[in-house]
Amino acid sequence: MSETDVDPLTVQVYLGDRSYEIQIVTGGLADFARLVEPWLERLPTKTSSHRALIVTDSNVAGLHAAPVQQSLEAAGWSIETAVLPPGETSKSLEAVSTLYDRLVELQADRQTLVIAVGGGVIGDLAGFAAASWVRGVPFLQVPTTLLAHVDSSVGGKVGINHPAGKNLIGAFHQPLGVLIDTVTLQTLPAREFSAGMAEVIKYGMILDAGFFSYLEDQADAIMAREPEALRRIIARCCRLKADVVEQDEFERTGLRAVLNYGHTFAHAFEALAGYGVLLHGEAVSLGMICASRLAERLGRIEQSLTKRQVVLLQRAGLPVALTEQTRFPTDDIIARMKLDKKTLGGKLRFVLPDRAGHVELVSDVNEEDVRAVLEDMARAIG
Ligand SMILES: NC(=O)c1ccc[n+]([C@@H]2O[C@H](COP(=O)([O-])OP(=O)(O)OC[C@H]3O[C@@H](n4cnc5c(N)ncnc54)[C@H](O)[C@@H]3O)[C@@H](O)[C@H]2O)c1
Ligand SMILES: [Zn+2]
Repeated sequence: MSETDVDPLTVQVYLGDRSYEIQIVTGGLADFARLVEPWLERLPTKTSSHRALIVTDSNVAGLHAAPVQQSLEAAGWSIETAVLPPGETSKSLEAVSTLYDRLVELQADRQTLVIAVGGGVIGDLAGFAAASWVRGVPFLQVPTTLLAHVDSSVGGKVGINHPAGKNLIGAFHQPLGVLIDTVTLQTLPAREFSAGMAEVIKYGMILDAGFFSYLEDQADAIMAREPEALRRIIARCCRLKADVVEQDEFERTGLRAVLNYGHTFAHAFEALAGYGVLLHGEAVSLGMICASRLAERLGRIEQSLTKRQVVLLQRAGLPVALTEQTRFPTDDIIARMKLDKKTLGGKLRFVLPDRAGHVELVSDVNEEDVRAVLEDMARAIG
């Protein structure tokens, strides 16, 4: 397919001179050079001989980076491609160093583009290389997982891991543009697709009750990965995240915290399970249920709202109960949560719903209530 088969949906991210567009299409990668042309107007100097480093991983290279490369080469671009091993271990200083070497070979200057074609790992890594090479080169994102479509490719946070912790080394570097092609989701493993749905459902709960209802109505179409349903949910999530980022680009006002619904519990589950056992989205699914039960216990919401989330998360193929593998001692979970960035002086703070589509950051949550929620969850295993 050389043409996009539908009109693209566009989400505009307004950030002053760092503003950019997110285009959501179905079947556009073979037409990449033409689709991104308008964005190149914003390059520091006008040129017709473009150079770019495409960064991808070995699962995505042949599937989705290849058409991007072919399209650009056919349009006269000079292209180098760096193919990294898949997985979180590629968010490392060694991998960044490899990318710098490739940029040297390419004689990259401030006009050279870095193009990320992959999931959140590749986007974060390539974005960090782009942010730091000669103090910043233009960056294009072609996210290929649902999580990257709705979350990691929006907002400008880029970075890598340090052995001491995830995402400890990073920068804010907004892309020149983001091209999301729903065709990339056709090859995504079911478990990864479901993991992305946890973040999609999260947006409904934190910011948009109408969107939450839409997800309930359209769950079957979405899980069947019907292109129109996918374009609609991706566009809505990008808009919702962009609204938050526009108000708190550098994570200074605390507004971005609403995006962490379910994440305080999730980070503890992820860490205790050992990274890689639970996918991030799976941990977020369990974390949202814990947070919702906590909100119920504090009299903020009715039980029926937790039930709606459980049903929807289940339809999205996500875990909604702990298993032998994910049941950890309550003390360990609490201790982990106290290490979380969002705890203040050892006090537990949570993003909790007060209705569908609205959450608040609640400080001074009583530890006994948190314990009770975790123990109820653990008892449900039987
Ligand atoms: N920058 C941000 O704001 C932000 C936000 C959320 C998450 N993240 C980061 O995102 C990362 C997770 O991203 P992810 O979930 O996309 O993981 P990922 O990049 O590891 O991709 C998941 C797996 O799917 C494979 N894959 C990717 N696209 C595919 C496709 N279209 N077809 C088949 N296989 C495909 C990958 O090779 C990998 O094995 C984490 O490192 C996290 O820290 C960043
Ligand atoms: Zn998340």
